[in-house]
Amino acid sequence: MPVISAPHEFNEEDLYVDLHPVVGRSLFLKCEGFNFAGSVKVKAATRMVELAERRGLLRPGSVLVESSSGNLGVALSMIAASKGYGFRCVTDSRCNLSTRLLMEALGAEVHIITEPHPVTGLLGARIEYVQALCASDDRYVWLNQYDNVGNWGAHYETTAPAIARQFPELDVLFVGAGTTGTLMGCARWFSDHRPSVRVVAVDAVGSVSFGAPPARRMIPGLGMGVRPPMLDESVVDDVVWVEEADTIRTCHQLARRGFLFGGSTGTAVSGAVDWLTRHDAEGLTAVTIAPDLGERYLDTVYQRTWVQDLFGEDALRPDEGAAVERAVPRPRQPESPSPALSALR
Ligand SMILES: Cc1ncc(COP(=O)(O)O)c(C=O)c1O
Repeated sequence: MPVISAPHEFNEEDLYVDLHPVVGRSLFLKCEGFNFAGSVKVKAATRMVELAERRGLLRPGSVLVESSSGNLGVALSMIAASKGYGFRCVTDSRCNLSTRLLMEALGAEVHIITEPHPVTGLLGARIEYVQALCASDDRYVWLNQYDNVGNWGAHYETTAPAIARQFPELDVLFVGAGTTGTLMGCARWFSDHRPSVRVVAVDAVGSVSFGAPPARRMIPGLGMGVRPPMLDESVVDDVVWVEEADTIRTCHQLARRGFLFGGSTGTAVSGAVDWLTRHDAEGLTAVTIAPDLGERYLDTVYQRTWVQDLFGEDALRPDEGAAVERAVPRPRQPESPSPALSALR
């Protein structure tokens, strides 16, 4: 019986959904939404705050500040409330209303950027605001999830070994790419400890992370408007891009079976099914990750008019996805554990 005294002490690490009956492919979905922050981001948030405390960056009176599309903001709101820090979340107009209300309920101050930077878009404008805030007052502490070893280190230490423990015969792991914290932590761990496992990144069409052209993206979580600073493609085997309309179709397909997951889960599952279909992968053991659950997307991904207005009626019709896949050359050598990890100790 787990008994906790702080909200970030609990996380369900070993829950998987067998998706074969839903998608017709052998694919297991690791559920990361069962904790008090409701998402995988509790791991990165906890580790980054611990690191900042250990380095003496956080003191009584400190105010955390972070740019987040939502889930990291919720996780930091929760941890800041529990530890007695202030927290200001800098987000943009794509942040779901329920996510914003959740952060405010936890005592955070939410700042919404509505004007994109002319070159780096909404994300660039968010970061510019954070930097200006930190320059104005030294009580503000920016963890910078985009370039913080605690972000990917949390997955190196927890997510990847947890998957390997449950799936000793794992052949391929599909990981959605946002900041690439989850992807890098998992890809580095498997590269260091099980190099035969293929790690496939799943990105949104319109994201520039892996060198594709930018385009409109409406679903928060996956994809970036600038290249993620922590991304190291040498440990990633393949990349699959998924159209947002396919993300929505897959979310609805899962919901029709009673599994209400967040938008990025639809992307990860759609990309994984597409890759497995293209690679005639019957018999492979495959896992992908569900970063959160669906309640935060009731007014977007699961709202008929929102979907119709942005993607047309077709996105509501179940049919085949249209993800695009590309191989990334990967030098494979047995290695000792990632040297960059030493920064975590
Ligand atoms: C719903 C959701 N999915 C996926 C991700 C991407 O995870 P990462 O930043 O580790 O790449 C995030 C990140 O915030 C998220 O909120």
